[in-house]
Amino acid sequence: MLGVLLCNVHRQDWGTLGMSLEQRLRDGSAVLGVVGLGYVGLPLAVEMAKSGRKVLGMDVSDEKAADVNAGRSYIPDILAEDLAELVGKGLIEATTDFSRAAECDAIAICVPTPLNKMKEPDTTYMEAAARSIAPYLKRDILVTLESTTYPGTTEEVVQPLLEAHGLRVGPDFHLAFSPERVDPGNTQFQTKNTPKIVGGVTPECTSAAVAFYEGFLDSVVPVSSTRTAEMTKLLENIFRCVNIALMNELLQVSERMGINIWEVVDAAKTKPFGFMPFYPGPGLGGHCIPIDPFYLSWKAREFDVHTEFIELAGKTNEAMPYYVVQRLMRALSSHRKSLAGSRVLIMGVAYKANIDDIRESPAIKISQLLLDADADVVYHDPHVKSFEAGGRDVASVALNAETLGAADAVVIVTDHRNVDYDLVWRASKLILDTRNTMREFDGDKVVRL
Ligand SMILES: NC(=O)c1ccc[n+]([C@@H]2O[C@H](COP(=O)([O-])OP(=O)(O)OC[C@H]3O[C@@H](n4cnc5c(N)ncnc54)[C@H](O)[C@@H]3O)[C@@H](O)[C@H]2O)c1
Repeated sequence: MLGVLLCNVHRQDWGTLGMSLEQRLRDGSAVLGVVGLGYVGLPLAVEMAKSGRKVLGMDVSDEKAADVNAGRSYIPDILAEDLAELVGKGLIEATTDFSRAAECDAIAICVPTPLNKMKEPDTTYMEAAARSIAPYLKRDILVTLESTTYPGTTEEVVQPLLEAHGLRVGPDFHLAFSPERVDPGNTQFQTKNTPKIVGGVTPECTSAAVAFYEGFLDSVVPVSSTRTAEMTKLLENIFRCVNIALMNELLQVSERMGINIWEVVDAAKTKPFGFMPFYPGPGLGGHCIPIDPFYLSWKAREFDVHTEFIELAGKTNEAMPYYVVQRLMRALSSHRKSLAGSRVLIMGVAYKANIDDIRESPAIKISQLLLDADADVVYHDPHVKSFEAGGRDVASVALNAETLGAADAVVIVTDHRNVDYDLVWRASKLILDTRNTMREFDGDKVVRL
């Protein structure tokens, strides 16, 4: 009986605490924190501040903290003037002093989750972030994890670290997972209007997380658990990874059959139901699609499951840079040239169009393979100032008739907008187009992947 009473009192307390936090989150008086001010964290902090909320950004980088405090944006999707205005109004401040987590009523963790050399999850950034804020958490705080990761991370890895100083999730504070879905360079869907999934450790944690994100985002979608939220993000990225791999396989068989796969996809996508277009390409890039699926494969092994689709997709996609180089060798041979000694101009080294991010870009592997084959490699990318492949600097060249004409082959790896493709077509001797960018240009000198 006493146990039931205590339990009721306890739950009531918890509910009241939750309510008051939720009220503060909704009325805008709560102070919000963001740990990790990168491609995900800075846009999130800006969105919070635009809603009038006071935001404290915490990062290990002195440079990033100084940039934010000076209103200098290092993320292309964030305009410096917007950031400067929010900093000027005192709505955003950045620090490397994690003891200031004590000022926050809610904190979102947005730190990297890469793979290590063995392609296993590297959770050290998340662990370090959790350890740095844990001593300063106040009662009733909400912590959300946004970094993409395997199902179970929030409760198995982050929760024990946050609880190390005595507070417990549930009675003392709230913890939820809410995957970041930002798509850098996407002008239609950005942080604010992309629906946000949230799954808490307890229903009250979910409710607090909904109140937090509804304060500054258009739409929030609660799910039943942290693991469901973690798996949702992985499903989204695995779906893309597997479908891209399928297109890469179909590209290779179509090429043998003399069929233009790009035309096939365009024709198939006229079907108004049951088909979604994906495109082949030079290989996967970025922080998500090449990496996240392996977070699940790794965790699945603990459950005696081998995620064969993911492994196969990974294998197919990882082979694409090699396939690009093979196709280039064939194209050069048809011009009576060998790859060794040829000058190759790589156009676009960012991992996708219209952004400056080169993480995991297929251009890195392609350039490395070309350098290994003794090709003379240069690149052009209006968004990327310097570029290295396999520890070797690759020289940047301007895009003009002279640099294009000096190359034995131009390889379009990333199809940035605002590039004079007409000039590329006129001035180049041979173009290997891995993105179907030159679809409007005829002639033997364009070789489509
Ligand atoms: N970039 C994307 O398009 C994207 C999209 C969806 C999800 N994600 C996921 O979001 C997470 C963050 O990715 P990102 O692209 O923003 O990474 P990023 O490298 O751009 O930014 C991470 C930031 O965290 C900081 N940091 C590292 N360790 C820290 C620590 N211990 N404490 C505080 N700050 C720390 C870094 O200095 C950096 O500023 C990853 O899990 C990623 O998979 C990224």
